[in-house]
Amino acid sequence: MTTDTLPTHPPEGAAADWTVPQNWDRYTPEEHGVWDTLFARQAALLPGRASDAYLRGLDVLKLSKPGIPDFAELSDRLMGLTGWQVVAVPGLVPDDVFFDHMANRRFVAGSFIRRADQLDYLQEPDVFHDVFGHVPMLADPVFADYLEAYGKGGQRAVGLDALKYLARLYWYTVEFGLVAEPEGLRIYGAGIVSSFSESRFALEDASPNRIAFDLERVMRTEYRIDDFQQNYFVIPSFEELLSATTQIDFAPLYRTVRRQSDLAPGEVLPDDVVVTRGTQDYARGKALA
Ligand code: PHE
Ligand code: FE
Repeated sequence: MTTDTLPTHPPEGAAADWTVPQNWDRYTPEEHGVWDTLFARQAALLPGRASDAYLRGLDVLKLSKPGIPDFAELSDRLMGLTGWQVVAVPGLVPDDVFFDHMANRRFVAGSFIRRADQLDYLQEPDVFHDVFGHVPMLADPVFADYLEAYGKGGQRAVGLDALKYLARLYWYTVEFGLVAEPEGLRIYGAGIVSSFSESRFALEDASPNRIAFDLERVMRTEYRIDDFQQNYFVIPSFEELLSATTQIDFAPLYRTVRRQSDLAPGEVLPDDVVVTRGTQDYARGKALA
């Protein structure tokens, strides 16, 4: 993701496009061990929960190979499949840098990994979130196209001062999206698939609402970055997500959304197509605590 509280120049040691060498040789055995621990935990949870496209990506990219993946090797595989690459950046990067990479099929990833005593604690996206969470979906040709289109849409949205609305689309699809598959709901958002607790909460907990994806509705919806989501949005398929976003001009949509009120994270509207209605018990418990 991006933020607007950043310096406008790359830090020392970074290139003009903010990329840095991954320095794969410098990871310690402990750091590789953290990856392996996180990988084993998630790999056990995801069959039957993660989307087919995600699980296929995990497999074809050979992400089960022990240790933190080498971005060069990963990029070679990915390039052959969908033309994407993974490049290392020092942390969060400015919006225009983020979108420029994405529009050119380069996925920016943090190269650091969380500490062994912080397996579930994450302030900034680390290599496990970025690579385990995001990269498998980039092996899917349709999703690969979606993310490139999103990058180009981001460049446009900067000029239209509409990033707030476009960021919500990213949040509720790329980070926290659900997809309806023939066998049932599945997770594909990187924030969910890389989270031990949310990968179950998003699908199995009674608390959150699961609502059919609607572009305008999603663009109006605020989100929480520090806790489980109260609403998840369900796409019918990646093809539908791609066509729903690429076949429409967002400029007039941004104008419509700007005139409407923002919607709170857990709200349900009369027009929503609700897949599962949540109790909101989790959110209420948090509010009382
Ligand atoms: N169609 C969008 C626009 O007109 C671009 C876009 C495509 C944005 C896909 C996000 C995802 O700006
Ligand atoms: Fe992410």
